[in-house]
Amino acid sequence: MRKKMIAGNWKMFKTIPESIQLAQDLAKLSGQTDSAEIVVCPPYTSLYAVCETLKNSKIGVGAQDIHWEDQGAFTGKISHDMISSTGAKYVIIGHSEQRTYFNETDESVNRKVKKALSAGLVPIVCIGETLQEREGNQTNAVVEKQTKGAFLGIPEADAIKCVLAYEPVWAIGTGKVATPEQAEEVHAFLRGLLTTVYSTNLSNSMRILYGGSMKADNAKSLLAQPNIDGGLIGGASLKADTFQGIIDATK
Ligand code: PGA
Repeated sequence: MRKKMIAGNWKMFKTIPESIQLAQDLAKLSGQTDSAEIVVCPPYTSLYAVCETLKNSKIGVGAQDIHWEDQGAFTGKISHDMISSTGAKYVIIGHSEQRTYFNETDESVNRKVKKALSAGLVPIVCIGETLQEREGNQTNAVVEKQTKGAFLGIPEADAIKCVLAYEPVWAIGTGKVATPEQAEEVHAFLRGLLTTVYSTNLSNSMRILYGGSMKADNAKSLLAQPNIDGGLIGGASLKADTFQGIIDATK
């Protein structure tokens, strides 16, 4: 039985005081929740403060990206040690905004996943097709290429620690949510792909999250699908009550 995961991606929102406030509000509402594994991913500047705020709660904390080198002259980048030293345990890798605006490729995703795993961080690996790709019937081919690329050369014993997030690009931040049937179709395809690439054991245990305009009012029907194991939430994770509405949908 896969435990549901609800992860909030705060993107480039929230100063340190705002982050602490939101973390405190979430801790009050669902700091001891067991119905799902809850994770929040604040911007780097707030990681330590949010980890400290949530340290006596069950809510986990993640970064939004990582660099694949241990250290060096890489202005603007953040290493695994830096992330781990804040107390964060998760890291989002390959988000479509990174792919679209910051030249993230399947190859860089792969290097980041390997580094995160070697550092004991849990990668939340994002994949998803654009509207043009969907309309061109390329969805399965695109998510297959991205998934195989992300996990290239990663042994099953490591890969099994990852979380996969299917985020159709056309649904992110647009208010256009995939229907439960559309999402489930891709999730089921990914489940089969994981069986082929790895094994039934890995495929049965890896969580596949859905992301893209998930809100309290559509979460229940999405999360009811057999292959949807949680959500990666952008906009609705920025307020405690809207995020809580999605957490409640896992109960
Ligand atoms: P959204 O973002 O919930 O605002 O659509 C999801 C994401 O980018 O992870």
